[in-house]
Amino acid sequence: MTDWKAAFTATFRAPASAVSARIWAEVYGDEYPAELDTYSFVTRSDLHHIAREARLAPGGRLADIGCGRGGPGLWVAAHTRATLTGVDIAETALASARRRAESMDVEPAGFRVGSFEDTGLDDASFEAVMSIDALLFAPDKPRACAEFARILAPGGRLLVTTWDFEGQPVNRPPQVADHRPLLEEAGFDVLSYEVTPDWRERQRRTMELSLERVADLAAESGDDPDRLCTSFEQTLRNQDLMTRRVLIVASLR
Ligand SMILES: C[S@@+](CC[C@H](N)C(=O)[O-])C[C@H]1O[C@@H](n2cnc3c(N)ncnc32)[C@H](O)[C@@H]1O
Repeated sequence: MTDWKAAFTATFRAPASAVSARIWAEVYGDEYPAELDTYSFVTRSDLHHIAREARLAPGGRLADIGCGRGGPGLWVAAHTRATLTGVDIAETALASARRRAESMDVEPAGFRVGSFEDTGLDDASFEAVMSIDALLFAPDKPRACAEFARILAPGGRLLVTTWDFEGQPVNRPPQVADHRPLLEEAGFDVLSYEVTPDWRERQRRTMELSLERVADLAAESGDDPDRLCTSFEQTLRNQDLMTRRVLIVASLR
């Protein structure tokens, strides 16, 4: 099994890929939030949905778990006037996030190293917690859901994009067929569980274009093109085991 901390630390040490950004823009068009340096399939529609459903008052406290370079959480914080705390296993991602926060009109409470299982954040200290396309990397999903519940204040909102799977993808932590029972068990009422539009076609096209342009990607990153090819092909096969990409809105009881 891959050491994800090491893998993501290496990924985020490099600047965001311009070749990947062009691919994402080609596939997602206006829905691609290019200015946020995302490392995910998040769309502008997802972000608007999250900002609306977070129900944050100005000055409210928002956490983004698996925040990567920080763009999505900072965008939601800017749109809701909330204070953002970002958590990720990769310090290199957090260093980018801190620089990004300085260039956006956002007051971050901080970006800190932590994991889904152990965020290091205080009990009941957030009105909203979000997580974009990262929960699939959590090795223990029930524990991650319990951690979301622990750090949220009663009535707080959870906003997550992730995937349900049929079967176990190769070289990934254990996946689940439906996140709703886990969330309910952790103390949440699931308010909506929406499949995001065109997710499968968009993801497949993104990976196909990455394969077509693997030479450009390898030249940009200094990676071995064969290794990149193998990884994209594996991602395509893993995507076939996904049954839906969902945007979950839940409220802590
Ligand atoms: C696909 S990226 C998404 C990043 C960001 N949310 C975005 O939309 O750009 C997945 C993120 O999850 C983080 N991650 C992986 N495993 C994690 C874990 N166990 N706990 C917390 N974060 C983790 C990675 O470092 C990476 O930043």
